[in-house]
Amino acid sequence: MTTTLLDQIGMLVTNDPHGRAPSTGRDEWSLGIRTDAALVIEDRRIAWIGPSRGAPAADKRHDCAGAAVIPGFVDSHAHLVFAGDRTEEFAARMAGQPYSAGGIRSTVAATRAASDEQLRAGVRGLVNELTRSGTTTFEVKSGYGLTVLDEARACRIAAEFTDEVTFLGAHVVPEEFRDDRPGYLDLVTGPMLDACAPPARWIDVFCEDGAFDANEARTVLAAGASAGLGLRVHANQLGPGPGVALAVEMGAASADHCTHLSDVDVDALAASGTVATLLPGAEFSTRSPYPDARRLLDAGASIALATDCNPGTSFTTSMPFCIALAVREMGLTVAEALCASTRGGARALRRDEIGRIAVGGPADLTLLAAPSYVHLAYRPGVPLIDVVWRGGRRVPSRRRGGALTGRQRADG
Ligand code: NIG
Ligand code: FE
Repeated sequence: MTTTLLDQIGMLVTNDPHGRAPSTGRDEWSLGIRTDAALVIEDRRIAWIGPSRGAPAADKRHDCAGAAVIPGFVDSHAHLVFAGDRTEEFAARMAGQPYSAGGIRSTVAATRAASDEQLRAGVRGLVNELTRSGTTTFEVKSGYGLTVLDEARACRIAAEFTDEVTFLGAHVVPEEFRDDRPGYLDLVTGPMLDACAPPARWIDVFCEDGAFDANEARTVLAAGASAGLGLRVHANQLGPGPGVALAVEMGAASADHCTHLSDVDVDALAASGTVATLLPGAEFSTRSPYPDARRLLDAGASIALATDCNPGTSFTTSMPFCIALAVREMGLTVAEALCASTRGGARALRRDEIGRIAVGGPADLTLLAAPSYVHLAYRPGVPLIDVVWRGGRRVPSRRRGGALTGRQRADG
């Protein structure tokens, strides 16, 4: 078993707070920061954490030269299985066109037409981007197939890359069911669910005008729960609506977007075990107002930050970008944003062992090219992810294997 020592860590963010919480600076205290620290990775896990001076010897040594080490990001919301290109749609939006959920259908057509290998190559490229951006756990949704076979293959391909697979057959009603919504709901909650449940851990529904109303969404979630899946909801993204209330009512792990919330929604989230997952990449790329993260935290709700990586509303794999947006536009301190992108994501996936650096836990961590995590927002757009270890393995830093080349997307 190989051991690796990381020493001379100037600032180690463990997300494991020690000592009594101070009355001020609580947000930073919750990061469990150690200075002049070291840690030992043994196989896939963290075996030791302590002061750099007096650290044990190991087979390999990485001198962190005073830089910061943080837990790997946990991206709890991403749509990576798709083909096709929506560059023009984005450009039109930046020229003043509004976003509508209908754009999803153009990706559905391209995804259906793509081969398994084209879809797999697309996911591989995005996963390479994610991991090189410091993300060590990520969720992947289906939702651009919308037939039994296309949804099942999306879930299968997603499962080749992550354990956190989400069945999103209820993304929109596809063209061929335009005049038969009940027929599509029967398909999603029947044969499509049967085909997708085995590789999936979660079911999700887009509860919004133009997608599914509250009763339809409740039917989808109830069927998913009966099949043993955990629940997630795309809620209150484009306008106020019933999504958040439904997510709380059904005990969903996460209500995602939460851009347009009433006071009742905020109170319901605060009193629930449902995490409000905020996706500022979507507001950036649709020129929409950002969700009010401050209001949620102040009310006592749990929040997560995620990329929502998808070709329509948020074509980014960069958690540092989302952190910078959350700090600048959503009222979070940098400490709160970092916590939301690590522990928050872990909570949204109901995974306790990830999103922190603890002895016995998985060795998922990132060495920054910076002395402090604060630089993630202080130096926006600067590539600060120096080295990433995922499950104890160093993630290759060079571009490899089917990244986002124009060819694959244009062919899709
Ligand atoms: O999370 N809101 C629904 N789904 C995606 C957008 C999908 C698309 O436009 O392709 C989202 O923003
Ligand atoms: Fe989404």
